[in-house]
Amino acid sequence: MAPRKIIIDTDPGQDDAVAILLALASPDDLDVLGVTAVAGNVPLPLTQKNARIVCELAGMPETKVFSGCDAPISRKLVTAEHVHGKTGLDGPQMADPTMPLQDQHAVDFIIDTLRDHNAGTVTLCPLGPLTNIATAFEKAPDIVGKVQEIVLMGGGFFEGGNITPAAEFNIYVDPEAAKIVFDAGAPITMMPLDVTHQALTTQARVDAFRNLGTPVGDMVAAWTDFFERFDKEKYGSEGAPLHDPCVIAYLIQPELFEGRHINVEIETSSELTLGMTVADWWRVSDRPPNATFMRQIDADGFFALLADRLARL
Ligand code: RIB
Ligand code: CA
Repeated sequence: MAPRKIIIDTDPGQDDAVAILLALASPDDLDVLGVTAVAGNVPLPLTQKNARIVCELAGMPETKVFSGCDAPISRKLVTAEHVHGKTGLDGPQMADPTMPLQDQHAVDFIIDTLRDHNAGTVTLCPLGPLTNIATAFEKAPDIVGKVQEIVLMGGGFFEGGNITPAAEFNIYVDPEAAKIVFDAGAPITMMPLDVTHQALTTQARVDAFRNLGTPVGDMVAAWTDFFERFDKEKYGSEGAPLHDPCVIAYLIQPELFEGRHINVEIETSSELTLGMTVADWWRVSDRPPNATFMRQIDADGFFALLADRLARL
């Protein structure tokens, strides 16, 4: 079967970086048409730089990387240096990238790519705030019907929030963008905290990365050591949730995940619950289903896939 065409929209972020590596290590499964950077974990100048650092680490400097929106649609940017460090990829020392940034704006790349491909053949993989995706949908409504699927990391319901008690970071940063995307009508599969919090970087799993004995394995282990310190303290867990690679793993091995097609609405007005993903898991409302909300993961299978694919780089 031909590899699935995808655009990765991202705010690297150590976990974004692992997701990008997993995708680039899987050319038989995934054809990465482009990587579009968005402001999120750190400001845009850093996320677009980090995306290029990761593509070069993967040995694929020919990957097209685009710079996108530098702020949410109608709010001030909230970043997460407290989790990811000042650079967004804190942990190991990283050399500046030498590969070029594409001249075209990420939003225009998303629009042109969807227009240039047959309907239903391009999947969008947002790993950060949904600003680029929503801006593309607003600028070119005709592309919504051409999207094969949106597979995103974001939201949470039974698990609560990680940036406020009610909201997960990607949705919280740009709730208006999230509402545009969840209301648009394109097929959505979401990886909320309810599933990513089961994908914990335990010592054995980090050791498996380090034992690859490759620059990629060493880098992933060093990133994990750095960004898990925050989550381990916060949750008292034996590792940090590896959020974003769940999106890519789903595209390669969907059987690792279980969820339910339900209605998910985005809170955009309440101060208390801004950015909350209100998931009608028990279908108590008559609101139409608009997303597959993943709630279970085979964590051992997920980390086995990760180690197997990262070993190829
Ligand atoms: O809440 C976790 C999400 O926010 C992940 O995508 C992480 O990279 C940050 O963007
Ligand atoms: Ca991210």
